[in-house]
Amino acid sequence: MYAIACIDKNYGIGKNGNLLISIPDDMRFFRETTKDSVVIMGRKTLFSFKNKEPLKNRINVVFTHNLELKNNYKNFDNIYFISNKSELNDILLKYSDKKAFIIGGEKIYNDFIDLCDTVYITRIDKEFDADSYFPNLLEHGFKITFSSETKIYENINYKFITYQKI
Ligand SMILES: NC(=O)c1ccc[n+]([C@@H]2O[C@H](COP(=O)([O-])OP(=O)(O)OC[C@H]3O[C@@H](n4cnc5c(N)ncnc54)[C@H](OP(=O)(O)O)[C@@H]3O)[C@@H](O)[C@H]2O)c1
Repeated sequence: MYAIACIDKNYGIGKNGNLLISIPDDMRFFRETTKDSVVIMGRKTLFSFKNKEPLKNRINVVFTHNLELKNNYKNFDNIYFISNKSELNDILLKYSDKKAFIIGGEKIYNDFIDLCDTVYITRIDKEFDADSYFPNLLEHGFKITFSSETKIYENINYKFITYQKI
């Protein structure tokens, strides 16, 4: 299983239900990396998307305690609402030809980080005011296996880093 996230210097990922920053190159990397995959998220992350709609060209799996939510998504054939991990296993079996990505937020990253073997991080070299965080990858036994050169967006430095459990 894979995870993908954009984090700041302190592992911050969001504030008030939104991203800390939106970098076009990072958005493109996310779209290309997760295309045609199963993306697994918490309900708050779904609600952070434009019009609260599922991501196109992906199977969206959303954790929630309120399964009635599915009534609001009858027009979409690419979204599942689940409330436990065994339902997730059933969906992953159904789509076993696809990669599965944990895409946030804090709660879901924490619950699944130990099931991931590869994590794609966009690391922003800046401290933001955050209220949600990614787990510390070194404490979870990950090592860096790839790091891009430093890139710059509006005076902010960032890098694409791959972590793996090895
Ligand atoms: N930087 C990044 O790459 C990135 C990526 C994704 C998200 N984010 C940010 O992360 C923040 C959201 O993170 P978050 O931790 O607050 O929310 P979250 O993980 O997106 O969603 C939490 C919700 O998921 C549901 N949930 C979680 N575990 C569950 C379980 N075991 N069973 C049933 N339902 C479960 C619950 O929904 P109900 O309340 O409906 O029961 C819970 O309130 C936002 O600021 C977002 O922008 C950042």
